[in-house]
Amino acid sequence: MKLSHYLCITPPSFDDYALMETTCFLTGLAIIFVYSAMAFLAIEETNIITDQSSLLALKAHITNDPNNFLANDSQNNRIMVLNLTSMSLTGTIPPHIGNLSFLVQLHLRNNGFDGSLLVDIVHLHRLEIFHLRLNSFQGEISSWLGSLPKLQSFYLFRNNFTGSIPREIGKLTNLKTFNLYGNQQISGTIPPTIFNISSFDTIDLALSRFSGNVPEDMCQYLSILQRLIHHHNQL
Ligand SMILES: *[C@@H]1O[C@H](CO)[C@@H](O)[C@H](O)[C@H]1NC(C)=O
Ligand SMILES: *[C@@H]1O[C@H](CO)[C@@H](O)[C@H](O)[C@H]1NC(C)=O
Ligand SMILES: *[C@@H]1O[C@H](CO)[C@@H](O)[C@H](O)[C@H]1NC(C)=O
Ligand SMILES: *[C@@H]1O[C@H](CO)[C@@H](O)[C@H](O)[C@H]1NC(C)=O
Ligand SMILES: *[C@@H]1O[C@H](CO)[C@@H](O)[C@H](O)[C@H]1NC(C)=O
Repeated sequence: MKLSHYLCITPPSFDDYALMETTCFLTGLAIIFVYSAMAFLAIEETNIITDQSSLLALKAHITNDPNNFLANDSQNNRIMVLNLTSMSLTGTIPPHIGNLSFLVQLHLRNNGFDGSLLVDIVHLHRLEIFHLRLNSFQGEISSWLGSLPKLQSFYLFRNNFTGSIPREIGKLTNLKTFNLYGNQQISGTIPPTIFNISSFDTIDLALSRFSGNVPEDMCQYLSILQRLIHHHNQL
């Protein structure tokens, strides 16, 4: 596939890009996302690496990105935002995700992704926003979660995660929003370490099977914790 064709660009004259019709530009963007999706879903490792290189190379040629789909780190020219929201993608996330180590935002919302979250995500140590809601991800939310210190917004809404919240969540001291709503097989107690996080705005645990007492020292955090949504649980 000649990318230049789908991008409505005749290389190497990328200078003309800004003059193109809006529709052409949007088509180009859409293809970039399909292409980036392919980078993640390709079966052969060589293809993944090739596609990733392509993704990085393509990004370098985008001169206008009004929606910040592929936001730019001007110093390192690496991908900071990957937005695959609502693209009807199915499949799993391969370990190569860890190669995109400059990612600050990863949006996978409203697709058909399944499988579990891989430990390779710990390499995304700049990650601030991680939105997975409305997929079919499975498995446990592992202790490696504690290795994402900059995480601010973690949406797992309506997936199929199991197990309990790892105590390492206490290390995410920048976390503001943690949404587990609709993961019916999450159970256990809320680890007291969660109240190590002073930045919390919203924890939504609804429709999961939490039991036990709300930790005693929660009271002292009520001013910080504006909303703890835990209806339908057995707390
Ligand atoms: C991305 O960064 C490169 C290198 O700094 C720059 O030439 C380009 O204009 C930037 N693109 C956007 C969309 O900011
Ligand atoms: C991601 O893409 C969706 C769908 O195109 C859009 O609605 C949303 O605003 C985007 N998010 C970001 C952070 O760019
Ligand atoms: C990408 O990640 C895979 C799996 O972690 C690794 O084997 C490969 O060497 C990485 N490729 C590059 C170009 O960094
Ligand atoms: C969750 O897992 C159950 C049992 O394996 C399955 O029946 C259900 O369809 C899954 N739901 C989602 C959203 O993947
Ligand atoms: C609490 O947060 C500090 C950083 O503010 C961190 O070093 C420590 O490991 C956290 N404790 C727990 C139990 O997670």
